[in-house]
Amino acid sequence: MGEPKKVLVSRQFPDIGIKLLEQAGFKLTIWSKDRPMSLSELIDFSMKHQALLCTLSDMITKEFLEKCSHLKIISQFAVGYDNINVAEATRLKIPIGFTPDVMSEATADIAFGLMIATARKMFFLHKTILKGEWGYFKPRGNLGMELRGKTLGIFGLGRIGMKMAKLCKNAYGMEIIYHNRQPNPVGEKDLNASWVDFEDLLARSDVLSVHSVLSRETQGLFNWEIFKQMKPNAIFINTARGAIHNETDLIEALSSKQIWGAGLDVTDPEPMAKNNPLLSMETVCVLPHVGSGTMEARNGMSRMAAENIIEFYKTGTLPYAVNPGVLEKEL
Ligand code: GLV
Repeated sequence: MGEPKKVLVSRQFPDIGIKLLEQAGFKLTIWSKDRPMSLSELIDFSMKHQALLCTLSDMITKEFLEKCSHLKIISQFAVGYDNINVAEATRLKIPIGFTPDVMSEATADIAFGLMIATARKMFFLHKTILKGEWGYFKPRGNLGMELRGKTLGIFGLGRIGMKMAKLCKNAYGMEIIYHNRQPNPVGEKDLNASWVDFEDLLARSDVLSVHSVLSRETQGLFNWEIFKQMKPNAIFINTARGAIHNETDLIEALSSKQIWGAGLDVTDPEPMAKNNPLLSMETVCVLPHVGSGTMEARNGMSRMAAENIIEFYKTGTLPYAVNPGVLEKEL
């Protein structure tokens, strides 16, 4: 491949992908600090590299892309890519790679876990022990709810939504309804899932779990008007992106008992402030964006992100591309 190609690696990703890149002869610069690079650091470093291996916390904005239009490939270590201005990258003919599928099970596990934890007030009850408030058995206290036979509404029945629906169906025989722009025939066949319109999804779901992308259409979608249409016993789960729900409206919906509870792996902003009112609510469970946080998933993501760069330089194609239409660009 002539001169070794230089790859900027924006965080300390699992070894597996780093080793693959090194073995393939790439010269890596790995950002070793615990924090993400600022935009100006990212621009300055990227200027000296041909490829970028980055993740959610790297703001691949229009400004970044205009200044770094020399980049041959941007390989994202994540399934979501709302941190990247894909339209601009596509206009500049920069291919974007991502890491789908490999973290679907891990993320669905977190959605499923948050659902049970919320239904049984687990995080709140754990905190009572830490505060020395265990006390005596309370026959009428600490009551949660059961999930057997309830209706699960999936907003975005795609790769992760399918895994969550399957867990809920197998564990609790939950009825699956979903709302997507396009029907999902596999979900309908394998999980007996029914497509419903958005209003029906809100009105019928006992648990409503968000698995959609963050886009102009979904940003702030779950707001007061929407929570108002949900059942008073409903649990809202979001493991997709925090900006899909309006946090002030969610707090209001929970405090006024418009809905029953919420399980969140994503917030807006991230990290969430430690005095956020959601953290002291009895029927709320929050995790610090760890959906893909298993060794299996993160190793898989690292491998796929590396394979995108290696294959691109070897064959001109990306095995996992966000904008495959740009791949005719010269190396
Ligand atoms: C995590 O949020 C991802 O998009 O991979």
